[in-house]
Amino acid sequence: MKPHKPYRHRTLGSHRLSPETLAMSYGYDPKLSEGAVKAPLFMTSTFVFDSTQAGKEFFELAYGLRERKAGEDPGLIYSRINNPDLEILEDRLTLWDDAEDSLVFSSGMAAIATTIFAHVRPGDVVVHSEPVYGGSEFLLAHILPQFGVSRVGFAAGADPKPLADAIETAKKIGRVSVIYVETPANPTNDLVDIAACAAAAKGLHAAQNFRPVVMVDNTFLGPLWQHPLSHGADLVLYSLTKYVGGHSDVIAGCALGSQAALAAVRGFRTILGTMCDPHTGWLLMRSLETLKLRMTEAATNAKKIADFLVTHPKIDAVHYLGHLPPRSPAGRLFAKQCLSPGSTFSIDVKGGEAAAFRFLDSLKLMKLAVSLGGTESLAEHPASMTHSDIPPDAQQRLGITPSMVRLSIGIENADDLIVDLTQALNAV
Ligand SMILES: Cc1ncc(COP(=O)(O)O)c(C=O)c1O
Repeated sequence: MKPHKPYRHRTLGSHRLSPETLAMSYGYDPKLSEGAVKAPLFMTSTFVFDSTQAGKEFFELAYGLRERKAGEDPGLIYSRINNPDLEILEDRLTLWDDAEDSLVFSSGMAAIATTIFAHVRPGDVVVHSEPVYGGSEFLLAHILPQFGVSRVGFAAGADPKPLADAIETAKKIGRVSVIYVETPANPTNDLVDIAACAAAAKGLHAAQNFRPVVMVDNTFLGPLWQHPLSHGADLVLYSLTKYVGGHSDVIAGCALGSQAALAAVRGFRTILGTMCDPHTGWLLMRSLETLKLRMTEAATNAKKIADFLVTHPKIDAVHYLGHLPPRSPAGRLFAKQCLSPGSTFSIDVKGGEAAAFRFLDSLKLMKLAVSLGGTESLAEHPASMTHSDIPPDAQQRLGITPSMVRLSIGIENADDLIVDLTQALNAV
């Protein structure tokens, strides 16, 4: 019999294997599934125990009634608690961000909400960057206050003063338990300095005798082009619906970080039931295999399209990270924190909302739809769609203008997309 290949090793000899290689094998032992090359879909709600004693021990571990013994794997119990497809997916999701552990959820919002709820208590304050995705904004503005948790926002950007001011304001309200960051910000692409947020958390630890958890929504650039844990974040959050899923056919999310930072989140997920289902988990494993190819091609296309749009007479501004002046504070932050400008960016069409609508209604290849990170290119109007929950004065302050259109560039032929954009701008 051939020696069994280790499926949990991240190295071959002394060579460290890349995430795109490990996406085909990591976390899955074919011996456990009749030698199937691909992990089967475990469509089951519950699992048979070998004995009553085994079931008892599995529950003790799952409910934190005892410590894990050396080498002990948590036994499979019930798919709200664990499922092979979700466990393999979670192992693979740790690879790009080099995280200790991960948890998958039924949506990006399920990941964000469950993770924040696990780390706040009544009277606490969340300090967060602005703007954030409309759903996250709603959670911070309207849901958390119902549980006695308030928020203080600070404008995203390279200037450190808004963060410092927000922390001073928050300290007067209550214990700061979470610093929540979305960088690049949806839809403006403004950046937030993750290391500065980690330093602020350290400062707060000394001041309030409690270190806030730094959470970064890495949906826009991750997991290829930005790794918040390496800049001092405690937890990374994703809408897996976007680049990781990558085909606009699943809704899912995840949280990544240390086992310690995720322990409470795991407990909340089990009881709130916000995990993703096995079929979605299986599809996401398939998506991970092509993640690097898709994100790389989309980023190449986005550069061509941003370079085309920036000189177009009907465009006022292109908020593309690759166009930041390298010596500007934002350009330096980009160089420090990001590995690519990615492929989602907004443009301001000359002529306000009417011009933006005319442009969007005239696109033929690019689809008028919210979401991003799929193989196909999408375009939407943040002020009236994804970010419509943000009041108009705040939209104006944060740069979400009526003329702004958000583009998510896919993996079609870039020249075809440029022809489409040209004819739509001609119609304006
Ligand atoms: C930056 C960002 N975070 C989170 C979400 C929420 O993800 P989901 O729609 O998977 O719940 C979105 C959705 O558009 C997003 O753009």
